[in-house]
Amino acid sequence: MGGLGIIGVGLWLTAAPAGARTPSPEAGAELAARWCAACHVVAASGAGTDSAPSFADVASRRTEAEIRTFLARPHANPMRGFTLTAGEIEDVAAYIATQR
Ligand code: HEC
Repeated sequence: MGGLGIIGVGLWLTAAPAGARTPSPEAGAELAARWCAACHVVAASGAGTDSAPSFADVASRRTEAEIRTFLARPHANPMRGFTLTAGEIEDVAAYIATQR
């Protein structure tokens, strides 16, 4: 029965609406530096590469909700196996939005 409890918690986390927790742009910044900077310019400082749109550019074109929707699916083929939790998506979307 303990196993069912764990599954229940997992479903709750997956189903939790965005905003159920407070996204952390700080955590998103760390995540971006670690996982996104290989392809994106992730900071106003210009750190990263230009093989993908910079996060400042993304922020100017997309709402935070659009970014979250985009990140719910894998993108850019080399990123296979790269999955973000719902919380990580909220954090990194909040971080990108700070560059608007
Ligand atoms: C292996 C390279 C690579 C990595 C790593 C990568 N991206 Fe991307 N990303 C791309 C490319 C290329 C595009 C543009 C093509 C596309 O939309 O798939 C893109 C597009 C995007 C877009 C949409 C831009 C738009 O025009 O609306 C967002 C948002 C984004 N990436 C966020 C992230 C985040 C957040 C991370 C880290 C967690 C990340 N990416 C890691 C290559 C990458």
